[in-house]
Order: sequence, then structure tokens, then C-alpha cells
Amino acid sequence: MTETTEIKSTLKPNDLYQALQAELSILKTENAYKYEVPIDSLMGPIVTVNGAQAVMLASNNYLGLANHPDIIKAAHKAIDEYGYGMSSVRFLCGTQKIHLQLEEKIANFLGQESAILHSSCFGANEAFFTAILQSNYNYTNYNDLIISDKLNHASIIDGIRLARIACKNTIAKPYEHNDLNHLQKLLQENTNPATRLKVIATDGVFSMEGDYADLKALKEIATKNNALLFVDESHSTGVLGNWGRGTMEHCNVLGQIDVITGTFGKALGGAHGGFITGKAELIEYLRQKSRPYTFSNTLAPMIAASSIKAIEMLETSNELVSKLHENTSYFRKSIKELGFTIIEGIHPIVAIMLGQTAIAQNMSRELLNHGVYIKGLWYPVVPAGTARLRAQISASHSKAHLDKALLAFEKVGKQLKVI
Ligand SMILES: Cc1ncc(COP(=O)(O)O)c(C=O)c1O
Repeated sequence: MTETTEIKSTLKPNDLYQALQAELSILKTENAYKYEVPIDSLMGPIVTVNGAQAVMLASNNYLGLANHPDIIKAAHKAIDEYGYGMSSVRFLCGTQKIHLQLEEKIANFLGQESAILHSSCFGANEAFFTAILQSNYNYTNYNDLIISDKLNHASIIDGIRLARIACKNTIAKPYEHNDLNHLQKLLQENTNPATRLKVIATDGVFSMEGDYADLKALKEIATKNNALLFVDESHSTGVLGNWGRGTMEHCNVLGQIDVITGTFGKALGGAHGGFITGKAELIEYLRQKSRPYTFSNTLAPMIAASSIKAIEMLETSNELVSKLHENTSYFRKSIKELGFTIIEGIHPIVAIMLGQTAIAQNMSRELLNHGVYIKGLWYPVVPAGTARLRAQISASHSKAHLDKALLAFEKVGKQLKVI
């Protein structure tokens, strides 16, 4: 554990840099320092690292649309038609037809009334909680209650934190991961008549585990308790459901979720950009009140155009989604047959459980030497003793790519006595 140091006087800038250096050293000794391995090629099923080829198993490029020829073509066309940048936030002069088209497209695709773009889903999540939990002008002596899955993404946690700084009487309660009994217990324990608004917040798919929230059951609980249901579908849109409409499609509740947020930075092209979808009034309100929307630049037109193209591709064919599901089942089955322990599920995020941090670190390094690019997760990112490798499967992987990766897993797993 990091020791705290008593501050005796205000730090001079040079002392600050020394203090930062000391903290960086601690991160390194605690194995919490994040190293970046530069890639020399385009993102794809195979990448080049230090001149050698490696099967990419660490990217959110679930459908293989990052660098898909149709996506690149749409981006080129948009540069010619709409230019490179807008140099403006949306409400000043940063709205082109194409931004409005993308908002309509993503709302329709997810079965929602309306949508608002943000420059990232991180910003979208912060925007939602800060704007909505502060929509309190006509209320005094009230509190808002937000109940949030313990493993929700950092942007949801930070959004709630920001909202609570501005609105001290907002109550935030975490519930145990995917534990709906605990969620209901918290709802029963917090029945203050002064509660103005209740929000249940969950990721659709959880990025460290690759498991998903039971949205059908959550919807029933939300309805019974007059709560708003908020779902972040960043890892689910384009991934779950026969047509890639996400956890809602998989759980058969398409069009029934109050608020859905997501990203264009993963399955839907992989560049960047986020969105919030929901009822028209909510989106209209956010257009006035979201600070990340009001004070941050509009999406580059080529990204808007390519994101539209990505959704159109999903609307017209489910070939890529089916291929992704097929590849995921093959990899999940084969890695287990080799003797590895994984978190069971259906999502292309496959958590390969190793336990000790050192094993996960050695294995990820050795796999790169054997032509597989994969990242490990260990404490404090995941609980101590649950270090793991996180494989992410793509529709763009061929069977030969997956077999090459599996062969490397077998060799390295035996070498390190994991299997
Ligand atoms: C569940 C979840 N929400 C939000 C985000 C942030 O998305 P963006 O990269 O668009 O900010 C991520 C990205 O890692 C995520 O996994």
C-alpha cells in the first residue's frame, strides 16, 4: 500500500515534480504502471509490432470496421464534401447535416426516440449524470437516488461523483456486481418520500469480465420502483443480438430502456465519439445543459459519415455480427479445451483467469514474442488474486488467425506451467 506523507509546507514546482517521480516509481514497484506497446501498422486482425506480425487480441475492433474499405471510402467522401474540421462546438457553428443524420440514425438503430452526440462516451456519461441530477430548480428538501453496479465503467462512476459535488443531497449506492437481490434490497432500504428521482445505472456488457447485465429483469425492477434505467452499451452495440442492437436485443427489451449511452470508438468504426439516446425531451434538455456538449468541439465530419456507414452496414446485413459470434464461440470453446479457465459467457471479451500478477505479466510478454498481441489486467484494475489476460475476438479474424493465437497460448501456457 502507498504510504501517505505529511505535507509541512506548500510544494515548490520542482518539489512537485520530485513527488510525481516518487509516485511513478511506486506504480512501477506495485505493477500498476501502464506501458504502451506501439503498433507500426493499421489496426486489423494482424498488426506489426517491432517489425514482427502479431494476431491482435486486444482491440475493441469487434466487427473489423476500423479500416474496413467501405468505412475508409465514406470518410474520404466526407472530407471532400464536408471538409476536415469545423473548429466549433455544436451550438455555435459546429452542426452540419451529417451530425443530425447520425443522431437520427443511432436513435433509430437502438429503438430510441432521439439522440445527442458527444466527443466520447466518457463525456456522454459525465454529461448525463451531471445534467440530470442537477435538474432540480423546482425542488427543495429532496434527494436523488442513484444505484449503480459496482463494476460500472469509470465514466459512470466519475459522472456520479461530479453530480454529487454539485448536488450534495444526491445519494449514490453501489450494488454488488449483477446482484439484483442486492439492488432490490437497496431500493427497499431507500424509500424516503423526499426522493425526487431514482436512477438504476449499469453497463450492458462489463469490460473486465465480458459478462452482461440482465436487462429484462432490471427493466422490471426499474418499472416496479419508478426508477429510470440507464445502460451504457459501449461494448454491446454491434456485438450482442442477432443484428448487433446490443444487450437490449439479446435480452429482448429493445425500445424499453430509458437511457442508452455508447461509443463510435469500438465496434462502430473505432475512431471516436459518443452518444446518449432516450426520450425527445431528455435529449432536448441535454442539448441545453450538457457541459461536455456545450463546451467541447463537434465530431469531425468524416467520423460522423463513417459512423453512419457503420450503422447502415449493420442495418443491411448481419453477416459481420454472425461471423463475430461464430469466432467468439470457436475461441471460447478452444481455449477451454487447452485447459485454460475463462469467465463463461457469450461476449467476444474472453477473460482468461491466471490468478497471480506475475503470471499474467509473463504470459502477455511471452505471447507477444510468439506473435500474439494481448493485454493483461491485474490488481488494482481487478481484485487482487484475479489477474487475467483479456482476449477480444473480432469478425475480421480468420480461423487461421485464431488457430495461430491458440497454438501460441498452448506453447506459452505449457512453458509457464499454467496448463
Ligand atoms: C463501458 C464503457 N463506457 C464508456 C467508455 C468510454 O468510451 P469512449 O472511448 O467513447 O470515451 C468505455 C471505453 O473504454 C467503456 O468500456
